Amino acid sequence: MKKSSFSTKVGLIMAAAGGAVGLGNIWKFPYIAGENGGGAFLLVYLLCVLLFGLPLLVMEFMIGKRSGKSTYGAFRALSGTNRWQWMSWLCMLTAMVIMGFYFVVTGWCFNYLVEALVNAFSGLDSSALTEHFSVVSTNKPRMIAFTVLPVLLTAAVLWFDVNKGIERLSKILMPLLLLMMLLMAGRVLMLDGSNLGMQFFFQFDCAKLTSHVVMEAMGQCFFSLSIGLGALITYGAYMPKGQNIPAASLQVLVLDTLVAILAGVIIFPAVFAFGVNPEQGPQLVFVVLPAVLQQMSFAWLSSVLFFGLLCIAALTSTISLMEVAVAFVQEATADTRHPLSRRQSVSLVAALVLVLIMLCIFFPAMFDVSDQLTAGFTMPLTALCMAVFVGWGLPKRGEGSVLLHTKGTRRRAGQVFLFFLRWIIPLIILLVFLNGLGVLKF
Ligand code: PFF
Repeated sequence: MKKSSFSTKVGLIMAAAGGAVGLGNIWKFPYIAGENGGGAFLLVYLLCVLLFGLPLLVMEFMIGKRSGKSTYGAFRALSGTNRWQWMSWLCMLTAMVIMGFYFVVTGWCFNYLVEALVNAFSGLDSSALTEHFSVVSTNKPRMIAFTVLPVLLTAAVLWFDVNKGIERLSKILMPLLLLMMLLMAGRVLMLDGSNLGMQFFFQFDCAKLTSHVVMEAMGQCFFSLSIGLGALITYGAYMPKGQNIPAASLQVLVLDTLVAILAGVIIFPAVFAFGVNPEQGPQLVFVVLPAVLQQMSFAWLSSVLFFGLLCIAALTSTISLMEVAVAFVQEATADTRHPLSRRQSVSLVAALVLVLIMLCIFFPAMFDVSDQLTAGFTMPLTALCMAVFVGWGLPKRGEGSVLLHTKGTRRRAGQVFLFFLRWIIPLIILLVFLNGLGVLKF
């Protein structure tokens, strides 16, 4: 099978960071933080990133690198048995279900980009913007048109294998997105009442800390870092020789967390300055961001630039999601009588994704269920199982630490990672699950 690989070490970091930084940071993080008590959510989120982030990122990259396979073949290649094969299917299922709703939100972003181009937000206040979002998110033909577009673009990137071009593009566009967000944060902090938003986002209020907040923060951590569905296994398989995996993982983690915090620093001060409700859910950023952009100097240019960059950030994530499924299909059919080529696999996956998208558009409950099922359940569960696989399941004792022993980690560091994978991560995920189900009460 022909494998594309990353041209440079920086290329891999950019591609992995591009996959991680996306709508999860700019759309989902602020609205979930808004619904879950601001500062309380932020604190638990950061704890989750610290506890889970690094060991799980390193683990997924290493599974991919050592096996040289995507999610379909990796567990079998490393363990020598079929016993863990169901994990591959769980990864594939998660990637497909996420794509169903992620593309719908990407479609909203494309819709807003086109409207920014024709200056449609000029003069609209937050209540008009709320009304506007409900039109955008209920007009089915319009939603279909704007959602099919990113599916085709994503499929085209994978079809023509132009990932390298995307890598190069990300190197310029990601810092530009960060810069744009910094400028927006600077503008928002000058608005009257913005300090209330900063308090909401940064002040930890113990009374707001519930088991629901902990569940949501944990799910968001997995979703935002793209952990728990093999996206990084797939990238790990394409990794160039000599990559320092812990350093790469740390860079992805820091960048991803910075963008999420920056999104909060833009949204919450603006929420309080404009007097909108921080608990309004998925529409939050689509109501607040156009209003913020209208306050910037060069409002038209700022809006076009921001929504353009947001669409690209979303696309680099959909590319990594679709790559998980495409690599799976290609590898799964490789030894059968009908092996599928890369292009056939891309077509099959894109067709299935379109069906899932239609379900999310025509049955809005499916949209919510997909989000909760993946971030709230299958991603933490798969991460738990992968941690058990590496920590306990590999055939030879200590194999896990060999797996984690890589350039950039000394043996000691490998053992610390292994301790996390064996004990800390499974125990915490299990406790949070049991607590969320009401079996245990803290
Ligand atoms: N991490 C992406 C985001 O925050 O937008 C979403 C995502 C991309 C999840 C790729 C999973 C994945 F494999």
